[in-house]
Amino acid sequence: MEKQWNWGIIAPGKIAEKFASDIKLVDGANLYAVASRTLGKAQAFANQFDAEIAYGSYEELAEDPNVDIVYIASPHPFHFEHSLLCLKNDKHVLCEKPMGMNAQQVEELSKVAKDNNLFLMEALWTKFIPSFRKCYELVHEGHIGEVKYIQANFCFKAEYDISKRLFNKELGGGSLLDIGIYPVFFALELAGKPDEILASAVIGKTGVDENCNIVFTYRQKGISASLSSSFQVNTPSEALIAGTKGYIRMYSKWHEPTSLDAVIDGHIHHYAFDESGFGYQYEIEEVMNCLIRGDSQSTEFPLAKSLRLHETLDSIRQQIGLEY
Ligand SMILES: NC(=O)c1ccc[n+]([C@@H]2O[C@H](COP(=O)([O-])OP(=O)(O)OC[C@H]3O[C@@H](n4cnc5c(N)ncnc54)[C@H](OP(=O)(O)O)[C@@H]3O)[C@@H](O)[C@H]2O)c1
Repeated sequence: MEKQWNWGIIAPGKIAEKFASDIKLVDGANLYAVASRTLGKAQAFANQFDAEIAYGSYEELAEDPNVDIVYIASPHPFHFEHSLLCLKNDKHVLCEKPMGMNAQQVEELSKVAKDNNLFLMEALWTKFIPSFRKCYELVHEGHIGEVKYIQANFCFKAEYDISKRLFNKELGGGSLLDIGIYPVFFALELAGKPDEILASAVIGKTGVDENCNIVFTYRQKGISASLSSSFQVNTPSEALIAGTKGYIRMYSKWHEPTSLDAVIDGHIHHYAFDESGFGYQYEIEEVMNCLIRGDSQSTEFPLAKSLRLHETLDSIRQQIGLEY
């Protein structure tokens, strides 16, 4: 019989619910345990998503020898501590984005995972969704010619409530780390690290960025990228990548499974994709495939790519004067 991989979930908040629902779509993945700071909450989550065990502390889950891999879904500032807790207890880890509050934390976690031969990946799920994979394939096979221009934004009007994490600096609030990470990821994946970064932001009264605008310039390749994030307004949140032979337009919300058009030499090619689940099943499949092969990193989204992403986010934050 095929081995079942036992997943544990730390911090059952909003995203953990979607993730737990998508685990059911992946062969060989079993939601085994969930841990909350409050036992009753863990029990309710376990009942809702059919997990076998509920724990009232993250430590208990990390110490359970039956857990193979842990999905960390706490607010950003705790990702480092909770990932480390699991790695030190010999667990493989899939950590929500951003994997650390800075590149140094990402580097440290990567080292611990490598030294202990444990799997570690940042849950940058967009990398694995069919629409992004198609966009990446079209670009890398040269269908739109040489890439010259990239545009991506991710904006929504967030509820102003500082008891929640989005505007709360102690909980890692701010649009860049929460949603701006996606447009930055998009440009890095499709064009690599830029030669120049220009960033500016509106910092709100809680000290975090409520709007962030970023321009990447690639002098050698002749590419520019215009990227933005905001908690102040709703926008369609689309992405565009244009080259010398055509362009690709990813529709709203481009960072999750969606449709896209590729306009190549004036001809429109429309691509639509499977819309089952929330779209987290694709990153879960990637993790499962790596575990089955015995790989301690994803080849598609290796730790070096997370490090590049976080070095870039650090540079942007330095320019907008945001320190955590
Ligand atoms: N991939 C995606 O599409 C996506 C989407 C949304 C969010 N995320 C990421 O997932 C993480 C969680 O986001 P979320 O929206 O699910 O957050 P959330 O609803 O606020 O849930 C976070 C959970 O973390 C736990 N927690 C531990 N220490 C905490 C503290 N000091 N204050 C508040 N909560 C604490 C809480 O669970 P217990 O009290 O039960 O332990 C809470 O339910 C974020 O880092 C975010 O970037 C990813």
